[in-house]
Amino acid sequence: MCGIVGYTGWREAQVVLLNNLARLEYRGYDSCGLALRGSPLTIVKDAVRVAELAKTITPVKSTSGIGHTRWATHGPPCKINAHPHLDCTGSIAVVHNGVITNYEKLRKQLTEEGHKFISETDTEVISHLVEKYLKGNLEEAVNSALKVLEGSYAIIVIADNDPALVFARKDSPMILGIGEKEYFIASDVPALLEYTNRVIYLEDGDAGVVTPQGIKITHAGQPVTREENKIHWTADQAQKGGYEHYMLKEIHEQPSILRETISEYLSSQSSSDISSFYGNNKSVLMLACGTSYHAAMIGKYVTEKLLNTSVRLEMASEFNYLSRTPYFPLTIGITQSGETADTLKALRRAKEAHSMVMAITNVVGSTASRSSNYVLYTRAGPEISVAATKSFTAQLGALYWLALSQSSLSIPEILLHEFRHLPSKVQEVLDMEEVIKLSANKLAGYENVFFIGRGINYPVALEGALKLKEISYIHSEAYAAGEIKHGPFALLSNKTPVIAIVMRDNCHDAMLTTIKEIRARGSPVFAIVEDTDTAIVDMADYLIPVPSIMDIFSPFITSVVMQLLAYFTAKKRGCPIDFPRNLAKSVTVE
Ligand code: AGP
Repeated sequence: MCGIVGYTGWREAQVVLLNNLARLEYRGYDSCGLALRGSPLTIVKDAVRVAELAKTITPVKSTSGIGHTRWATHGPPCKINAHPHLDCTGSIAVVHNGVITNYEKLRKQLTEEGHKFISETDTEVISHLVEKYLKGNLEEAVNSALKVLEGSYAIIVIADNDPALVFARKDSPMILGIGEKEYFIASDVPALLEYTNRVIYLEDGDAGVVTPQGIKITHAGQPVTREENKIHWTADQAQKGGYEHYMLKEIHEQPSILRETISEYLSSQSSSDISSFYGNNKSVLMLACGTSYHAAMIGKYVTEKLLNTSVRLEMASEFNYLSRTPYFPLTIGITQSGETADTLKALRRAKEAHSMVMAITNVVGSTASRSSNYVLYTRAGPEISVAATKSFTAQLGALYWLALSQSSLSIPEILLHEFRHLPSKVQEVLDMEEVIKLSANKLAGYENVFFIGRGINYPVALEGALKLKEISYIHSEAYAAGEIKHGPFALLSNKTPVIAIVMRDNCHDAMLTTIKEIRARGSPVFAIVEDTDTAIVDMADYLIPVPSIMDIFSPFITSVVMQLLAYFTAKKRGCPIDFPRNLAKSVTVE
C-alpha cells in the first residue's frame, strides 16, 4: 500500500526521486520521504504530499537515493512514522512496502540487544537488523536480515558508505528500470516512464544490488538473469492529458481502450491462448474484491447465459474465511492491479485445492499474473485514479470475451456485431456528459442516495453506489430493485433520491412498478433510460438518456453513466477526486 523508488546514476537524485514518487502517490499519499547518499545521509520526510515535501528540500549534490510514499498500516501518518527509516547510527536507511508480520518479536529482541526504536512502524526493524548484521558489505547484511523477516516486503536499502542500492521483494511488487548508465527501482511502471521504458519485473524472492555500473539480481543466493521488457505506455499516457483529474481522463479513454481490447481479443492469437481454459468443465469459481467484484457479478451473469456453465462468485475477502475450501476445477481471479492481498490469498487457496487458475488483470508482471496458470490481460493502460473506471470496463470486455470465445457454437454474428460496436456506444454516453452533469449537480445537495437495478444492471447499481461514496463521500447504497420494499423503503423521503437503471430488458416492467412505488414515498427519481423509451418519461424527475443497446451489453454504457454521475457530483462538492480520503489504489494488505 506504499510506493517505493530508488535511483542511482548521474542525475540529481532528489529531482528524479521526487518526480517518480509523485507518480506513485496513487499507492499511498499520507506521508512521504527521501534518503540521499552522502556523508552523512540526507533524510527528508514528513506527513505531507510529495509536492509539499519538494518545497522544503534544499538542493543536495547526490546522484543516488531512495524514496517512499506511504499509506499507513502501522502507526498513524506522521513525520516519525514516514519512511525512510534509519538504524541507530543514522547511516542506513530503508524504504518498504508490505507488512512485516513478526516485527513485534524482532523489535523486542533488537531492543534487548540495545537498539533504540523511534517509530511505530514494522519497517524500522529492517534498518536495525541490517545494522546488526553489517560487517562491511551492505548486500550481505541485507540478505542476513531477510532470513529473519516474515511477511511481505519490497525494500530498498541505502548506506552512507556503500555505493549500492540493495533491493529485495517478497509478495510485494517491484521493478527495475534501465537507463544509460543509470538505474531505477520502483513499485510500478508509471514511476519510471519519464526516464525509461526499459523495465525488468522482479520475481518473488529476488534480491540484488544496483550501482551506476550495473544490476546484479540473485534468487535464493544464486545470480539470475531476468528478461528486459519494453513498456509501450508513454509518460504522457500516465499523465492527466489535459483533463482536470485522472478519473475524468480515464473515463474518456474507455472507447479507445475497448477498441484496442476488442480487436486484440478478436485476433486469433489472443483467443488461442485461452481456448483450452474451460475444456469440458461446467463449473467455475470467480473471486474478486470491490469494483472487480462487481465486474465479476456481471461476468457470472454473462457466462451463465452464454455458456452452459454454472458460476460461483465469492468476494475474495470472504472466501479466505470459509471453513472449507470448495473444489472447483476452474477459478478466475479478477484484479485490476494483480496485487490485491485478499484476491491473491484466495487464488492461492483455490490453487492449493487443485483448481486451475486464471487471472484477469491489467498489470503485466503482477503477482496475480505470475502465480496463475492462465492470464487474460485487460488492456486499460495505467489507471492512476483511486476510483476504478476504465479498468472495470476493460474487465467487462475480458469477461464477455471469455464467455463468447469459449462457446462451443460459433458466436452469433449479432453478438459479435454489438461487441465490436461497444466503443461507439460508450462514446455516445460520453457525449452526453453535460446532461449527466445537470443531474450530478442536483445529487450533490443530498447526503443519502439509493441506487436500484435489476438483473444484469443490479451489479451496475452496486458499482454506482461504490463510485459515488468513495469520491463524493455521500452515503449511497444499492439494492436489487425488488428488494427495496423489503426494508429500505423505511428510509425513503424527499431527502433520499433514488437512481434507477431502467433498460428495456426483461426487467423493464418490474422496474417501472418499483419506480411508481418509490415516487409515492416522495423520493426524487433519477432514471437512466434508453433514449427511445417513452414509457418512463412522466415517471422520473430527471432523465438520463442512453443509446439503445442489446440487453446483455447494457452494463458497458450504464456503468459509464454511473462513473460520470459520481465524478461530477464529487466535483460539485469540491472533493479530492483522484485521491479520496482513507483509500489507496492497490490494497496490498489484508
Ligand atoms: C474501486 O474504485 C476501488 N479502487 C476498489 O474497490 C478496487 O476495485 C478493489 O480494491 C480491487 O482492486 P483490484 O481490482 O486491483 O484487485
